[in-house]
Amino acid sequence: MNCLKAVKISPTSVTTKFKEGLWDKPHISMFLCYRLLTLPLSRKRDQNKHLASAFSLLLYKDLDMKTALITGATSGIGLATAQTLADNNYALVLCGRNKERLTQLKEELSQLVPVETLCFDVRDKEKVEEQINSLKEFPFNEINILINNAGNAHGLDPIDKGSLEDWDAMMDINVKGLLYVSHTIIPKMRERKNGHIINIGSTAGKEVYPNGNVYCGSKHAVDAITTGMRLDLNPYNIRVGAVNPGLVETNFSQVRFKGDKERADKVYQGYMALQPQDVADVILFAVTRPPHVNIADLTVMCTAQASSTVLKKN
Ligand SMILES: NC(=O)c1ccc[n+]([C@@H]2O[C@H](COP(=O)([O-])OP(=O)(O)OC[C@H]3O[C@@H](n4cnc5c(N)ncnc54)[C@H](OP(=O)(O)O)[C@@H]3O)[C@@H](O)[C@H]2O)c1
Repeated sequence: MNCLKAVKISPTSVTTKFKEGLWDKPHISMFLCYRLLTLPLSRKRDQNKHLASAFSLLLYKDLDMKTALITGATSGIGLATAQTLADNNYALVLCGRNKERLTQLKEELSQLVPVETLCFDVRDKEKVEEQINSLKEFPFNEINILINNAGNAHGLDPIDKGSLEDWDAMMDINVKGLLYVSHTIIPKMRERKNGHIINIGSTAGKEVYPNGNVYCGSKHAVDAITTGMRLDLNPYNIRVGAVNPGLVETNFSQVRFKGDKERADKVYQGYMALQPQDVADVILFAVTRPPHVNIADLTVMCTAQASSTVLKKN
């Protein structure tokens, strides 16, 4: 057990796999070798890197380890989820618009698991399809888990004063972007009769708050689309669920207030908001349930928040 601790493997997950008959002793030894090779890896040790990636491919194939594609992986909830899933041995396809950030992430997380990155704006349906279909190599060409996370609020204005650009951005990114990505990935899940889709909704998809009009509309759409996906994909053994966070301290408010950091910071003052890791932990819980369990709809708020409009500040 000390040895397992030293290489940062959760003893419970190894024991469970062993008990379920998924792992035998050679597998465990191979896994340990892989982790021992990758964890202390420095960029200069290219030989070890190649050996580690050969091990990882064997492991992902032999042990049926899973690949997750995360949109909006460069920041906030998506970033914390990428880090958490890497710590839990999921191969990753990380998507975002910031190429530099994606390259850094790949460098960092591929020391733990196989990582591929795709740079696209979810609004660009041709690019979405082209990029996702460019994933030809195992384990990236078999997406087992899709986390539709990319999205933001743009503006916080009453409906009579809202900006058309903001409305377009929210509907195009939060709703249509989620659909474009799903449209490209679902057919392969359907063919394999296996898959898991988690849409990141919001408490704004459960109730409408003043000035939230179109953002709430976009997240209500995500709520309805999630249910629709679950119904239509039911014959194909594809799990579909939503994780709906309340206030999470991310770049979200900076984007909403167009870079006004002072205004954005105020959103999170006087109470302890959810942190991105709190939501990533919930997502990890959802994806690690046994195959017969689907977390269909989960709302998570910080203790200080009781609803979209009731927040206990000091
Ligand atoms: N924070 C909250 O309080 C909260 C509450 C409930 C739900 N949510 C939801 O949680 C999700 C993640 O938000 P967050 O709080 O983690 O915010 P965040 O830190 O601003 O992260 C948003 C992510 O989405 C990506 N993204 C935005 N527009 C995109 C586009 N057009 N194409 C591709 N990627 C795009 C961003 O990439 P770029 O860096 O390239 O922009 C970034 O990686 C969103 O769906 C949001 O609605 C957030």
